[in-house]
Amino acid sequence: MQKRLWSISEYPFQPERHLYYETIFALGNGYLGSRANFEEGLEGQTPATLVHGVYNHAPGMLVPELVNFPNWTGLTLTVDGTPFHLRTKALDLLKPTGGVLLGYKRTLHMDVALLRREALFRAESGGTVKVIFERFVSLADVHVMAQRLKVIAIDGAPRVEILAWIDAEVTNNGVSHWTNLQTTAEADQITVSGKTGQSPYRMGIASRLISPQAVNAASHATQPRLTSVIQLDKDGTVTIDKLTAIYTSRDSDDPLGSAQAKIQEATAIGYDKLYQAHTAAWADHWRDSDVIIEGDEQAQIALRFTMYHVLIAAPQHDDDVSIGAKTLSGFGYKGHVFWDTELFILPPLTLTQPEIARNLLMYRYKRLPGARHKAQANGYEGAMYPWESTDTGEETTPQWSDPQPDGTRIRIWTGDNEQHISTDIAYAIMQYWHWTGDTEFMIRYGAEIVLDTAVFWGSRVELKGDRYELTMQIGPDEYHENINNSVFVNRMTVWHLEQALQLIDWLQQHAPDQARTLTEQLGLTPARLDHWRDVIARMYLPFDAEQQRHIQFDGFFEMEYIPVPHYEPRVGGVWPMLGHHRALQSQVIKQADVVMLMALLGDQVGSREVMLNNWHTYYPRTDHGSSLSPAIHAWVAARLGLMDDAEYMFEHAAMIDLQDNKGNVRDGIHGAASGGLWQAVVFGFCGLTIDHGDLKTDPKLPDHWKSVTFTVYYQGQRRQITVRHPVGNPVGATGS
Ligand code: BGC
Repeated sequence: MQKRLWSISEYPFQPERHLYYETIFALGNGYLGSRANFEEGLEGQTPATLVHGVYNHAPGMLVPELVNFPNWTGLTLTVDGTPFHLRTKALDLLKPTGGVLLGYKRTLHMDVALLRREALFRAESGGTVKVIFERFVSLADVHVMAQRLKVIAIDGAPRVEILAWIDAEVTNNGVSHWTNLQTTAEADQITVSGKTGQSPYRMGIASRLISPQAVNAASHATQPRLTSVIQLDKDGTVTIDKLTAIYTSRDSDDPLGSAQAKIQEATAIGYDKLYQAHTAAWADHWRDSDVIIEGDEQAQIALRFTMYHVLIAAPQHDDDVSIGAKTLSGFGYKGHVFWDTELFILPPLTLTQPEIARNLLMYRYKRLPGARHKAQANGYEGAMYPWESTDTGEETTPQWSDPQPDGTRIRIWTGDNEQHISTDIAYAIMQYWHWTGDTEFMIRYGAEIVLDTAVFWGSRVELKGDRYELTMQIGPDEYHENINNSVFVNRMTVWHLEQALQLIDWLQQHAPDQARTLTEQLGLTPARLDHWRDVIARMYLPFDAEQQRHIQFDGFFEMEYIPVPHYEPRVGGVWPMLGHHRALQSQVIKQADVVMLMALLGDQVGSREVMLNNWHTYYPRTDHGSSLSPAIHAWVAARLGLMDDAEYMFEHAAMIDLQDNKGNVRDGIHGAASGGLWQAVVFGFCGLTIDHGDLKTDPKLPDHWKSVTFTVYYQGQRRQITVRHPVGNPVGATGS
């Protein structure tokens, strides 16, 4: 294995980019995610540990958010009394007042999910040490986090004091969520416990310091500490471990007791064996989720990086949580769950880690009551999923934006009118079923979602004259709000109702009891099914017959045309350059919309001519103001054989987080863009589809790619697939 293609490094120290690195070097294990803040702290850093499912609605805030947990990473040292730090400026490197950093490298090893930092530090005494910090959050035992600090005497024989702590005084960018905080410090162990203010969650954290010398504990109201003093010999080395365990009331009745028991168990196992188990678990993950691209190292690293971030957020053991738009790596979007999960993040999991995909779909199943409540509150039937979802399943989209520079707030309509989320969830369920063949899931859970969301659409459509319409919608392109007859929404609704009707037939044949139960429970009367058939037959799909292309929504082409490519090169979207008002009234599109429809439904959307016309119409109008857009464009362009566009869009998608080309990586990883990249490669460039009960590829690879190898599960069978150009190998030819 070429290690180089499995790691990303920061070298030398780039203090001005520390928030970017905090995000991209984040660790996680599907239970929690933890940003890559420095163990010793740094001015302006935003340490955050977010645990799936733990939300709280703080007083004065518009909506609930994922709660930042106490910072468990605190670990540092003094060298001959000089505190270790990352300042590189010293008048005299030989006699540095206050100490000086002489060298630095930090690396995220994605193969084993390990963050490692090496630093060369000279103390005021002149004593110089090499300091190596390592940390991982265990994939094998998700409640365990481990840190190792190794200090090597390079010059002199310094006296080293180690200090470890947990910091309970944490906020989400200034918002406090914890109450009843309590700390203890005894022998070699410190603990913190607390409860969220509004929601019912409790947490417990316990840390131990394992040192060859005595460990002392010091109590503190919010920062319990452990210390240990080591006198290094000349050329001597010392290794100190800090182990931490974390539980919440979501997984234990006594989170603190469980954390204490777990830390005892972890201490008995020890860092090395914990690490072995962790790396073995990662080897399993990568065995199925790695994609090998021969001929393009940048694409290779990007694919691993994005899949790494999908995997560290993917709940392995919990079917009551889902992945927020910014994963667990930052405060952006407050940990809320959008369509990003079902249409962008889920497909790579459905195909490579189906058990995890099932967990994510179960999260939606368990939130059917919230979706039914939303439908009812809006005067509809069935289940209408919230645009932004948290633990409760209720709509949690804020109605107003944060104040703009002029102090005003903008009304946010997505929670009211971005209704396609219900169909996106149905799409993910059908995709999961077709790929996995998990009929047990489908019969017991999936069908109810697909059918009750179909009931919603049946009640939502509007009969106008002799056709059905959908007014006051927001399609994927959020620059145009409250529009009428989005072709994406209308066409996907037709698709949804078609699937629902077929599903009822299938249930009647294969699970007649459940068919009866659901028919009764959801009111799937013959009249309702006839209504669905009528909607399918008479739904209005805006189409420009002269130009043979779809119309994104009613009146789209009557607005001002602004060729987006003229605004290149640019940093940021065209939308802010035009201003809110003009942008809303122009043809500038935020993200793949008609193009998204082409990705999801492929040639069901229209003839090749129509698809090409759609592409040539919408691509030059698209701003890619959302990170969800480029990967979908790459996918569709590859399918259309437009390889220059496909490669350009792929490169853009691959670099969204790695090069911070949206300028907001500090807020968290773009989860959807990450899942989208895998889809651009597998569905786009490789053209993987299910065809008459088997898998088919149709490679359209960039010229410089020699081959792509990936693994998928189809109907429970593991298939390793290699495609090359010009014509791929038959699927599965390279083994199982
Ligand atoms: C995009 C949405 C997306 C949301 C969260 C918005 O900017 O337009 O499609 O769901 O971000 O990622």
